[in-house]
Amino acid sequence: MKEKLQDQRIDYTQGSLEIGDVDPNPLKQFQKWYEAYEQLKPKDPNAFVLATAGADGAVHARVLLLKGVDQGGFEFYTNYQSDKGREMEENPKVSMCFFWPEMERQVRVEGLVEKLTEAESTQYFKSRPHGSQVGAWVSPQSEVIDSRAFLEERVKHYSDKYESEVPKPPHWGGYRLMPTRIEFWQGRASRLHDRIVYNKEQGENWLLNRLAP
Ligand SMILES: Cc1cc2nc3c(=O)[nH]c(=O)nc-3n(C[C@H](O)[C@H](O)[C@H](O)COP(=O)(O)O)c2cc1C
Repeated sequence: MKEKLQDQRIDYTQGSLEIGDVDPNPLKQFQKWYEAYEQLKPKDPNAFVLATAGADGAVHARVLLLKGVDQGGFEFYTNYQSDKGREMEENPKVSMCFFWPEMERQVRVEGLVEKLTEAESTQYFKSRPHGSQVGAWVSPQSEVIDSRAFLEERVKHYSDKYESEVPKPPHWGGYRLMPTRIEFWQGRASRLHDRIVYNKEQGENWLLNRLAP
């Protein structure tokens, strides 16, 4: 396996990135890149890796789905009592990373998370399929469970209980990552990639710099 991994390499040649090419607002730049990526119809274009660290400083990463770019931030939904939920409660500084291989692009976002309002979370919860709504009640996310039967019994219980309308569980909802730093990475030949980083300054101003690859 090691040999195979060491031989695995491709040269990136699809695009380039200059400070003069990008939007002065990184959220608008993100939307531009996201829309271009989505057009290629990849599976889960909105998937990203979220890294969190709780009070003990240990870092944990997992894949989530982006559900909105709004009010200056990046929105996603989960179980507030999950491991990641507890970690974000202890330490709201998080990092998200998107990898869009078909376009040889990466976007890294860092900042502080805040919880969405109950009204915002409820609005999105209502748009979810019935099975996913029931699933939010069923799964004590991140806890050890005895068997799959535990979940199946709870599916039956909550499906019977909430036959038509499923209320949003109080432990389920959204977060908005308010960015302080966003980096756009475009792969280039011979590992001399383009990296443009935005750092948030006073007010709504962003300072742009090029970083060494
Ligand atoms: C493609 C994909 C999308 C996912 N989307 C979500 C999501 O939006 N919300 C969520 O809570 N978990 C999602 N998961 C599951 C998480 O990766 C993770 O297993 C779960 O949230 C528990 O994480 P935790 O124990 O670190 O809190 C997704 C997994 C994959 C592979």
